[in-house]
Amino acid sequence: MLLQSERYQREWRELEEEFQQLQETHKVYRQKLEELNNLQAACSSSIRKQKRKLKDLKYSLQRCKHKSSPEESDLIQQINTQIKDRQNIFFDMEAYLPKRNGFAYKDEYEKFKLYLTIILLLGAVACRFILHYRVTDEVFNFLLVWYYCTLTIRESILISNGSRIKGWWVSHHYVSTFLSGVMLTWPDGLMYQMFRNQFLAFSIFQSCVQFLQYYYQSGCLYRLCALGKRNHLDLTVEGFQSWMWRGLTFLLPFLFFGHFWQLYNAITLFELSRHTECKEWQVFVLALTFLLLFLGNFLTTLKVVHTKLQKNEDEMKKL
Ligand code: COA
Repeated sequence: MLLQSERYQREWRELEEEFQQLQETHKVYRQKLEELNNLQAACSSSIRKQKRKLKDLKYSLQRCKHKSSPEESDLIQQINTQIKDRQNIFFDMEAYLPKRNGFAYKDEYEKFKLYLTIILLLGAVACRFILHYRVTDEVFNFLLVWYYCTLTIRESILISNGSRIKGWWVSHHYVSTFLSGVMLTWPDGLMYQMFRNQFLAFSIFQSCVQFLQYYYQSGCLYRLCALGKRNHLDLTVEGFQSWMWRGLTFLLPFLFFGHFWQLYNAITLFELSRHTECKEWQVFVLALTFLLLFLGNFLTTLKVVHTKLQKNEDEMKKL
């Protein structure tokens, strides 16, 4: 019995020593982890800074290229080549840095759009069916202006974090900000009342489409993130592609319907602008803006689908 208790004591002492050692190692680990996190943050931030400055420099060089002498032209060419090399080096460096922040920000952007879509949907339904006051319409339009302004700011941050958002989708939000701003200044009257219900119904439809878009785009985001090292997992990439095409085929009819509704809004407003009682400049400006939105959205969506189809065909050929 005595022997056994000595054995337990010895075992306990050994465990105790190992535990002390473990605590020490863990302490060092936490210090190193903190150092690593700081180094990662420092690297990521200076890469971002360098990239931004290189982009500005490239733009300035491009501008002064036309007025430069042959020697200066050579120098500009050399710097441009070096900038390209530098960009490749940054790409390699980034492969060893975490990408979680970009993902988290994009995720937050999609969630922000979702919450605001819910609020805007409720607002549009309330204005269309319950509250027939000018002041509530103004609040609704003001919310739209703020929403689109915030989107443009968030999107420029996303782009500087490496998002591939196409130029038009960003401009689309500037144009929408302008449109909501003009709606806000449109004084109440016969013309306003003639267009009001159509606009609110369109806003309700747009919010519903935005729901579907959220489901599709956040689905793409989660799947792409889960793929991570997608080059090594061809099967999963195929899974992603088939999910994307199913989502897109479902979404596209709603998107095109929305685009033609924008065209219909433009036509209605052009007709209203020719009305004998129409005195407000807002009517014609809004008609032009809706037409611009229709053309931009419709043509860009066609281009996106065409590019995706071509990419798909290329990949099929490679297999
Ligand atoms: N708004 C904001 N970002 C968009 C966008 C949009 N309308 N369309 C695409 N993007 C983003 C994507 O999220 C992706 O970002 P990431 O690089 O950070 O992952 C990037 O741009 C590239 O996307 P892409 O692969 O070209 O397209 P997609 O498969 O994500 O989406 C559509 C394709 C057609 C579904 C999408 O462009 C769309 O919904 N367009 C219609 C918008 C519209 O017309 N709205 C008005 C309706 S009435």
